[in-house]
Amino acid sequence: KRDFIILLVSFALLNLANQCSGIDRRSFPDGFQFGFSSSAYQMEGAAHEDGRGLSIWDTFCAIPGKILNGDTGDVAVDMYHHYKEDVQILKNMGTDVFRLSISWPRIFPGGSTRNGEVNQKGVEFYNNLINELIQNGIEPMVTLFHWDVPQVLEDEYGGFRSERILDDHAEFSELCFKEFGDRVKKWVTINEPSMFASHGYSSGVNAPGRCTPPTCPAGDSLREPYIVSHNLLRAHMRAVKIYRSKYQRKQKGAIGISVHSDWYTPCSPKDKDVEATHRVLDNTLGLYLDPIFYGDYPLSVKQIVRERLPKLTEEESKDIMGSFDFIGINHYVTLYVLDNSTDIVLPPEGDPKDGTKPENPEVPDTFAVTTSFKDGVAIGPSEGGVTYWRSYPRGLKYLLNYIQEKYSNPPVYITEIGYVTLDRGQPVEEILQDEGRVQYIKDSLHYTLQAMRDGADVRGFLIWSYIDNFEWEGGYANRLGLNYANYTSGDLQRIPKSSAIWFANAMKKRKNKR
Ligand code: NOJ
Repeated sequence: KRDFIILLVSFALLNLANQCSGIDRRSFPDGFQFGFSSSAYQMEGAAHEDGRGLSIWDTFCAIPGKILNGDTGDVAVDMYHHYKEDVQILKNMGTDVFRLSISWPRIFPGGSTRNGEVNQKGVEFYNNLINELIQNGIEPMVTLFHWDVPQVLEDEYGGFRSERILDDHAEFSELCFKEFGDRVKKWVTINEPSMFASHGYSSGVNAPGRCTPPTCPAGDSLREPYIVSHNLLRAHMRAVKIYRSKYQRKQKGAIGISVHSDWYTPCSPKDKDVEATHRVLDNTLGLYLDPIFYGDYPLSVKQIVRERLPKLTEEESKDIMGSFDFIGINHYVTLYVLDNSTDIVLPPEGDPKDGTKPENPEVPDTFAVTTSFKDGVAIGPSEGGVTYWRSYPRGLKYLLNYIQEKYSNPPVYITEIGYVTLDRGQPVEEILQDEGRVQYIKDSLHYTLQAMRDGADVRGFLIWSYIDNFEWEGGYANRLGLNYANYTSGDLQRIPKSSAIWFANAMKKRKNKR
């Protein structure tokens, strides 16, 4: 009996240790993959080298006032030239899998062979990067579309506003399968369709920057986000279809999509806020996962968006259903949902603490309120709402539990989690001490493990990102890396932050080692 009690107590202590700080590779099942995510425009730089064409992001960044401090991705962290060094950094951090994206205009400067040739220099760069990763024991995971539409296609027919993009995107996808699929075994078709559609076509804060007058000169923020979103889904479907019919059997890889998925919690226990929370989840996660799992958009979205929501044809619905081998989840924050189907006054923008306190203070130190999406004005939750980067790692567990339950427990890779700090010009040493990020990663790992204990089929955990980089409209002042990028050193020196050191140690701990 005494031994049994000792055993129980040690088990409880071990568990507690894991929960508090001791979490590391050994806490996870064998074969679980750890790694980092990145994207071409945010990391590569070399925007005008070796025949790369322009993308909508090059154009957007050149418009004064669009990006914080007028930053652009022209140089970024110059991964194009630093890739060997970066692979060593990744290796030293114990990375199993590295997610990169292929810049469409680097491969097809003209968008497709209709407007020119394949850029062999571009193909060569990705071959080099992929080979370097593999030679260093790191598996490449490749995203096909991470927001950089070739500018020529935007000019020619309006990019993702037109279904003409489907053939061009299919050609680009197929070329990637053909060129890299012998070595790439995990493909992500589209990164965060909801963010591309809402930020590019509703709020207009991202490329191509379309939104409603008078703020923006062009666009129809009521319709366009849904048209774009619909075309992104169809592009995903086409890529999966091509991969499955022509490449998958031989190349033996897996294909999926990465969806942006904040978690949402009702602002009060009132039914109306709880129902609003369901609607918000439908209009964010469900907008993509429902078609992929059930062949159609969620009912609540159809009821609210009505004729502005394009329809999937019967054939498309059949093709899209089951078009995944895994689901990628990009998760950053948890937001409150406040029903707005009656007139409510939203808290003012500004310090979240100035707003009305939620009646349901589940998420400490967070006051991101989002509305119920009553009129379906925009994809995404936050029409009139306020969004802040406040991390709440427990939200990740709730999200994983929700996906497990609603979508019959698909294989999931967390393709992004991340933690931002703002560079206000504080001393570098201060930025390097990123204990907040360390805690956030530990907590996120802890809640991932909790969800896995509840049965969620999570296969990997990828952090955004291994290094600070170009954070879209937030420019370089928003730092999300485990390594510091010294943008003023001339050679873009990379310096490990506390989080890189902590992560590398956690990855070194293997089950058979002490
Ligand atoms: C999601 C996007 O995929 C990525 O491009 C972005 O940098 C991170 N979130 C952080 O905002």
